[in-house]
Amino acid sequence: MKDKDNNIKDITPNSMRLKNLSKAHFSNQSSECHPKVFIKTFGCQMNDYDSEILRGILRKRGFVVSGDLESADIVLFNTCSVREHAERRVYGQIASLAHGKGQMTNGKMIGLVGCMAQAHKEKILKDLPYVDLVCGPQHIYQIPDYLEDIILNKKKIVAVDEKQRPADRENHDFRDETKRIKAYVTIMEGCNNFCSYCIVPYVRGREKSRPPELIIKEITSLLKRGIKEITLLGQNVNSYGKDIAGGYSFCDLLKKIDAIGDLRRLRFVTSHPKDAEEEMFRAMAKLPTICESLHLPVQSGSDRILKCMNRKYSKDDYLRKIELLRKIVPGCSLSTDIIVGYPGETDEDFRQTVEIIKQVRYDTAYIFKYSPRPLTRAAGLEDDVPQSVKEERNQELLNLQKKIVRCNNEKYRNKELGVLVESASDKDEKFLVGRSRTGKMVVFEGPRELIGKIIGVRVGEVNTSTLSGEWARL
Ligand code: 5AD
Ligand code: SF4
Repeated sequence: MKDKDNNIKDITPNSMRLKNLSKAHFSNQSSECHPKVFIKTFGCQMNDYDSEILRGILRKRGFVVSGDLESADIVLFNTCSVREHAERRVYGQIASLAHGKGQMTNGKMIGLVGCMAQAHKEKILKDLPYVDLVCGPQHIYQIPDYLEDIILNKKKIVAVDEKQRPADRENHDFRDETKRIKAYVTIMEGCNNFCSYCIVPYVRGREKSRPPELIIKEITSLLKRGIKEITLLGQNVNSYGKDIAGGYSFCDLLKKIDAIGDLRRLRFVTSHPKDAEEEMFRAMAKLPTICESLHLPVQSGSDRILKCMNRKYSKDDYLRKIELLRKIVPGCSLSTDIIVGYPGETDEDFRQTVEIIKQVRYDTAYIFKYSPRPLTRAAGLEDDVPQSVKEERNQELLNLQKKIVRCNNEKYRNKELGVLVESASDKDEKFLVGRSRTGKMVVFEGPRELIGKIIGVRVGEVNTSTLSGEWARL
């Protein structure tokens, strides 16, 4: 951790101290004595998880975590650097917030947290002088200390040294308790793959598996709180355990989690096609909690582009894996990530991507227009596909994908699906929303008591984004 003033103090957790922070520190402080914190999260599920832990540790320390930006004393942006667009949104939002901030100590305190902080480090303070805290993903567990220090000593802090996360991150009791049905659990940090376009290894560091016993402990505690579905998170879950002495594999972990009991559904993201193997497909088929759904990012259908991207598989390797998966896990839904407009992508390369989408017929495809990211290998290449071509290719894939999903969803018509009921519908309170094991969103009419239960729903109407049906039985 790098302290701008080089005089950071050892701050012990002490909510009394925070209590004594008077209104003088925040001109717009509305909470009694405790500073109010608003957290805005951008990007992937890893950031959602980090923000959830952050909310938990801030509450423990005596901060008030609020959903209201207006009245907040401290605003933390948990940011994403994966694409340029995400960064621009953050810069825009901070700039507009700071517009009303006035003097540094007299308005809201602003923290920029997560991958953007790690990517741009001190430079953020130059671009956004009203930011008080710049904190990389490895350090978010010290944020209560940093905030106290900034408030008490009126300083700025930049915490971006790529050290290990501190031990207290492993204290699962810090987790925010508001979520009751589904939860994410990070099983590993970082990535060793260095795909040529990707900033993740530079901002999240190298792969590091969390010890299995801590993962099991965290999941057991979540289950006691009533959680029904867990999604395991890692940049490449297939390499889980490679850094654990004595050898431990992702499938070992899946078996352990499945055996806990009480868990109804288990999912995981992300699998790398080069490492997703038959053993994992067999575990998916055999272990009752694992849902029939796999996210397997293909990125491109062109062997030439895949090679430039350093993905380490060919289109045929990928298709063979899909064939094997479908044989072993029939009915498994598939999702993917695709980048259009990678440097040098020709019409012919793009056609290959169209082809692979038509062949695999994904249930969901996240399509991204390439943007050069600092530090990456591809950033040294000319970003030569014009924006208009990227737009066209993006639109073509979105249209194709829409048709495919609409068609894929037909197979659910008049079928009864097991649905984990998640919430009341935002649009109409009478309706409930849940998901099938394959990840399809299902809407139906029913009483709120069903929330958190797995029930049978007979599907009637199908469209691109949802299936609608009738509650069939408990
Ligand atoms: N430009 C566009 N998309 C990107 N992704 C990662 N880096 C970039 C980039 N520089 C996409 C990949 C990845 C997903 C999370 O984001 O498809 O799988
Ligand atoms: Fe990025 Fe590739 Fe690692 Fe995924 S596997 S996080 S795309 S470097």
